Amino acid sequence: MVKFTLPTNSKLRTGKTWPKPQGAKNVRAFHIYRWSPDDDENPRVDTYFLDMDKCGPMVLDALIKIKNEIDPTLTFRRSCREGVCGSCAMNIDGGNHLACIWGLDQIRGDVRIYPLPHLPVVKDLVPDMTNFYAQHAYVEPWLHTTSNEPQKEWRQSIEDRKKLDGLYECVLCGACSTACPSYWWNGDDKYLGPAALLHAYRWIADSRDEATGERLDALEDPFKLYRCHTIMNCTKTCPKGLNPAKAIAEIKKLMVERAI
Ligand code: SF4
Ligand code: FES
Repeated sequence: MVKFTLPTNSKLRTGKTWPKPQGAKNVRAFHIYRWSPDDDENPRVDTYFLDMDKCGPMVLDALIKIKNEIDPTLTFRRSCREGVCGSCAMNIDGGNHLACIWGLDQIRGDVRIYPLPHLPVVKDLVPDMTNFYAQHAYVEPWLHTTSNEPQKEWRQSIEDRKKLDGLYECVLCGACSTACPSYWWNGDDKYLGPAALLHAYRWIADSRDEATGERLDALEDPFKLYRCHTIMNCTKTCPKGLNPAKAIAEIKKLMVERAI
């Protein structure tokens, strides 16, 4: 029988348990993934305790409180703290979420926080997004035109503009792609993943864009688009309520339409 096991230096070990806050009546435990490139240690899970009567309501509030008051070495990305920069995506309680808009009241019991799945880790909760951004760049996410430049601006009817709703709102957090099993298996260099494909469709669907054929050509191979197997984890997990699976299905439909 085949046995699967992690390489020795990847095995997760139990880390430090920090003391409970004194005198607190409403205490909650946070188990947080830690790894640093600055030593040869294995990744570990540290446990912190917070007085929830003195903590804000979101997961990011708890992380900031831990960093400010308990352990300044804890590392994570965040910027806007209102779900628009996309930088605080992480795996919380088994699902990918934006920590700033994921309420602690949506989690039962202890809180478990890991980096986004299946990406290399830079440090602690910070994943390496290099390949994810390269996949985004691959779809050339800007307007392509061949017509003469208009005097003022490229115009669009209200109806055509509405076709971009549900697409342009993506904040490139990576929650969808890193929730996708097909992306885990093929995402390194072959399958573009739900986020990049949603952006590809955002430009294909734009009435002002004049490169639909070239855009479809760039996706026409066995992997870049067709490694989507409609598992739907992307749509289930998107913290902005977008539907990358639908965008991918629309691209597949256009591929079929142009082939017949
Ligand atoms: S589609 Fe949603 S989950 Fe995917 S990158 Fe955009 S905002 Fe994040
Ligand atoms: S801090 Fe910007 S999306 Fe969470």
